[in-house]
Amino acid sequence: MSTQTLFPDRNLAMELVRVTEAAAISAARFMGLGDKEGGDKAAVDAMRAFLKTVNMQGTVIIGEGEKDEAPMLYNGEKIGNGRGPAVDVAVDPVEGTNLLALGRPNSIAVIAVSEAGSMWDPGASFYMNKLVVEKQARDAIDIRLSPTENLRRIAEALEREVNDLTVFVLDKPRHRDLIAEIRSAGARISLHTDGDVMGGLMAAIPGTGVDVLMGIGGTPEGVITACAVKALGAGMQGRRAPQKEDEKARLAAAGTDLSEVLTQDELVRSDNTFFAATGITEGAFLEGVHFDRKGGVTTHSIVMRSATGSIRFVKGIHRI
Ligand code: FBP
Repeated sequence: MSTQTLFPDRNLAMELVRVTEAAAISAARFMGLGDKEGGDKAAVDAMRAFLKTVNMQGTVIIGEGEKDEAPMLYNGEKIGNGRGPAVDVAVDPVEGTNLLALGRPNSIAVIAVSEAGSMWDPGASFYMNKLVVEKQARDAIDIRLSPTENLRRIAEALEREVNDLTVFVLDKPRHRDLIAEIRSAGARISLHTDGDVMGGLMAAIPGTGVDVLMGIGGTPEGVITACAVKALGAGMQGRRAPQKEDEKARLAAAGTDLSEVLTQDELVRSDNTFFAATGITEGAFLEGVHFDRKGGVTTHSIVMRSATGSIRFVKGIHRI
């Protein structure tokens, strides 16, 4: 067997961006229509069609949910053309279904891939507390400490003042105390109703206008974010933070240690990760899908590979 069959190679990243471009183009037709399910289904169908052509033997670790609830791209599903490297796959055909349905900024189509057996399976965990920063501050963070202390350490690592930092936080009632603490620490806040994968991505990349992601979001989204963080050499810590009663009960029944800190290296136990995301609705970091004259469509994507540290911004001009 050649090494090419064993390890995901460089071409995979470029193949993956075709998958997210296709999902974004299909989903973008649903912008602002108030139809979350329609937009998600369009993206799933497009993603699925393109995934069949990708040279990999993929297993979905992070998908749309359990098989019975999500007939397509369910956890455990085999995807790819059945040749090439064996890989774990995390997909979110529309990350920010509400953002898309309401025509708000920052919904994206995203896929992440790593070597087979390396992606952490969230199991019964739906919610996770997350802290993400760029490379220069990665050794400064400790999610067990207060947000105030983390902001002080991050500012020091970045050679800035706390009041120079901007923190991306999901605008949820559960974050009332977190928001109050960040404000009293003196940092600036960027509040978003949804989309903490984009928040994590922006926090992990210097110069995006977001320096830190803090707060509780989806656990599956945390694993996707970790793939991007690894590709960027940035820093992430997460801790399960169950919000729902059945989630709390299942984790308690399994004897799960909620104080366990998961870094990007536990969330993805591989240094060979791939990440591709395409903007669906307009965003400050990725432009949305634009429909132009005579069937022309423009997409804007980011593609990253951890083994080489390559980061590409891909502007796609398509004719459909
Ligand atoms: P969906 O695209 O699945 O709707 O997820 C959007 C999102 O905002 C994620 O970015 C975030 O991690 C999660 O939902 C937060 O969940 P909740 O809205 O239940 O607080």
